Amino acid sequence: MSNFDQLLSVDRIFAIYNHSVAALHGVSLSVRTGEVRALLGANGAGKTTTLRAIANLLGAQRGSVTSGRIVFDGLDVLKMPPSTLVQAGLASVLEGRHVFKSLNVEENLIVGGLARGSRRSELSADLERIYALFPSLLPKRKIAAGLTSGGEQQMVAIGRALMSRPRLLILDEPSMGLAPIVVKGIFETLRALNRNDGLTILMAEQNAAIALRYADQATVIENGTDVLSDTADALRRGDYVKEFYLGSNVSTGIKREAGPQQPSAVSTSDELQTIAAE
Ligand SMILES: Nc1ncnc2c1ncn2[C@@H]1O[C@H](COP(=O)(O)OP(=O)(O)OP(=O)(O)O)[C@@H](O)[C@H]1O
Ligand SMILES: [Mg+2]
Repeated sequence: MSNFDQLLSVDRIFAIYNHSVAALHGVSLSVRTGEVRALLGANGAGKTTTLRAIANLLGAQRGSVTSGRIVFDGLDVLKMPPSTLVQAGLASVLEGRHVFKSLNVEENLIVGGLARGSRRSELSADLERIYALFPSLLPKRKIAAGLTSGGEQQMVAIGRALMSRPRLLILDEPSMGLAPIVVKGIFETLRALNRNDGLTILMAEQNAAIALRYADQATVIENGTDVLSDTADALRRGDYVKEFYLGSNVSTGIKREAGPQQPSAVSTSDELQTIAAE
């Protein structure tokens, strides 16, 4: 791989929380321009920590990267404020689809545009684009985001990130706590953004089956270390997914989250595997 292809490179990062708790022990991965890369691993493997490090947001969690290097499009990420990274084209949807609950849907989206410094005319064009991607948000544009469904909040969170016109979008468990049909819609939209607009995507997923269905490449982390990187196809065909689902490090499905979704509307691992196999 030539360095020109690399939009993001993460080189042997070590990270700790609270000055003491080790979370990452040398994670390396790279993301090429135009690809969708999945970051897979069981509970506590270090997926979220890796994404927080890439967005330089670990400090907000009393965490820090103690060694290693992260380069996004030539920028030394660990020396950049998160806001500068957003302006440089790195947008993230972390922390469980955070929305500003008392702001309405459209205000939430506008916040994403302001983070980039968009002008008024750009904001309205970008809003139109988000409503075209997520038509169900249009009739809800004046409703407080906190009153919308879990799936709609995920769309708002993704839409807000897209308002900054990113080249790299990082997402933490986009399937978490959502019904299968909603998960499918969100992954289809992400795929369309990748294929039609060339958006590069790095997404952490505990659910390997669904992630590998939509990713081009994948990196597996275990206990804070990357252990395997390959094409999504190769990983789908290989033993990893079987072990991940059937072995001792199995996730029993996706995590549940408090919120408007009822537990019965949440995908089970079986349901997501069915979507993944379609
Ligand atoms: N805010 C925090 N403070 C202290 N320790 C943390 C914090 N967040 C994560 N950790 C620890 O860091 C390690 C990696 O956790 P991380 O959340 O990155 O894993 P993950 O792969 O995202 O897991 P999950 O699938 O459960 O989301 C774990 O040991 C976890 O307990
Ligand atoms: Mg996580």
